[in-house]
Amino acid sequence: MRQKRLKYVNIELLEEHGVITKVEALKIPKDKKVYLEIGCGKGQFITSIAKNHPDVFFIAMEVNLYVIYRVLEKKLDMQLDNLMIVLADAKYLETYFKDQKIDGIYLNFSDPWPKGKHHKRRLTYPSFLKLYLKLLKSNAFLQFRTDHLDLFTDSLSYIEPYFDLNEVTYDLERSDYMTEYEIKKRALGPIYQLKGMVKDDDPKNI
Ligand SMILES: C[S@@+](CC[C@H](N)C(=O)[O-])C[C@H]1O[C@@H](n2cnc3c(N)ncnc32)[C@H](O)[C@@H]1O
Repeated sequence: MRQKRLKYVNIELLEEHGVITKVEALKIPKDKKVYLEIGCGKGQFITSIAKNHPDVFFIAMEVNLYVIYRVLEKKLDMQLDNLMIVLADAKYLETYFKDQKIDGIYLNFSDPWPKGKHHKRRLTYPSFLKLYLKLLKSNAFLQFRTDHLDLFTDSLSYIEPYFDLNEVTYDLERSDYMTEYEIKKRALGPIYQLKGMVKDDDPKNI
């Protein structure tokens, strides 16, 4: 996600406004549904969905300092008490969710990493899926949206052994909840989406 360096943005500023910047167990409510977006970019999707679902707790995770500042601006502007912002790399998910399980994960327009030697970096790659299963409840979902057909096709095959695929679409309609990327990419072609549910049997052993 493109975002130029912002001179006034630093870790201290983010922390002053409650952004989590340390790799530590997150304090999340136990009495609410909790949904996590990984690689949320500038946060249009998660802030708009959080605004309309005050009863749900949302976590926006993003690895880029300057990009995540844009999420913070939206959170403050929209006065979202039900959104936690975490500056983090998804590879540390297990530490963030050490003792807690969540109800769903959104992956929107994740980097496609088209070269074979980089596929392991894809957020839908099996090594990440195994990590997600450790923090998802038994009835939880993984929703993945992209404009990149090769990534989508590969992701279907990555995800199918781990999740029950119950929604797969090759031409997703516009919605009230779109990311910055989606808004741009819709002008160029179709948007693909899949939703997988955690399998009833125990796939964590796969
Ligand atoms: C192509 S952008 C899409 C951003 C946003 N989801 C959208 O649709 O507008 C991918 C985003 O994922 C973030 N990202 C990539 N790998 C990540 C990781 N391992 N952990 C957290 N964020 C990651 C990048 O910094 C970037 O902002």
